[in-house]
Amino acid sequence: MNPFESFSSGVQSEFNDLFLGDLIGEGQFRKVYELRFAPSLVAKIELRASGEFENVAEWHVWNQLRDTEWGRWLAPCEAISFSGSVLIQRKTSPIARLPKQVPSFMCDLKPENFGRLSGHLVAHDYGHHRLFTRGMRGVGLRPVNV
Ligand SMILES: Nc1ncnc2c1ncn2[C@@H]1O[C@H](COP(=O)(O)OP(=O)(O)O)[C@@H](O)[C@H]1O
Ligand SMILES: [Mg+2]
Repeated sequence: MNPFESFSSGVQSEFNDLFLGDLIGEGQFRKVYELRFAPSLVAKIELRASGEFENVAEWHVWNQLRDTEWGRWLAPCEAISFSGSVLIQRKTSPIARLPKQVPSFMCDLKPENFGRLSGHLVAHDYGHHRLFTRGMRGVGLRPVNV
């Protein structure tokens, strides 16, 4: 049995108060909190049933690209909860202006969706992207070897 299932909602909210720090950002889909005991990380909580599954999309993009030349453009995702409502990501510092160029699969190009991490500019909101539309170019039929 999962021992956490027996937490009362009061204890759960006390736990949240203890472990979550300040609310540092809010977008259309997510609220972003500092983690009190892990200052290099944030918790991104997806609250609305928008059908967009931003946390899950970000998690997939990170895992597909992390070991490619494009991984350094993305704030690393460290963990995700079972249903995707909670995503743990590396914390970035805000930037005032976008650079002249960013990878061509990126969407939603506004400074609030980017930050600085270890001296590099990275996206921290990359759940929406053009990877499917770009990836579908050139798709045709393949032979079936049975
Ligand atoms: N990894 C991060 N580090 C620091 N701040 C972040 C991070 N991710 C998001 N934020 C802050 O929280 C805000 C909302 O997060 P974002 O990922 O853009 O959510 P949404 O998908 O709802 O737009 C951002 O505009 C930014 O201010
Ligand atoms: Mg955003």
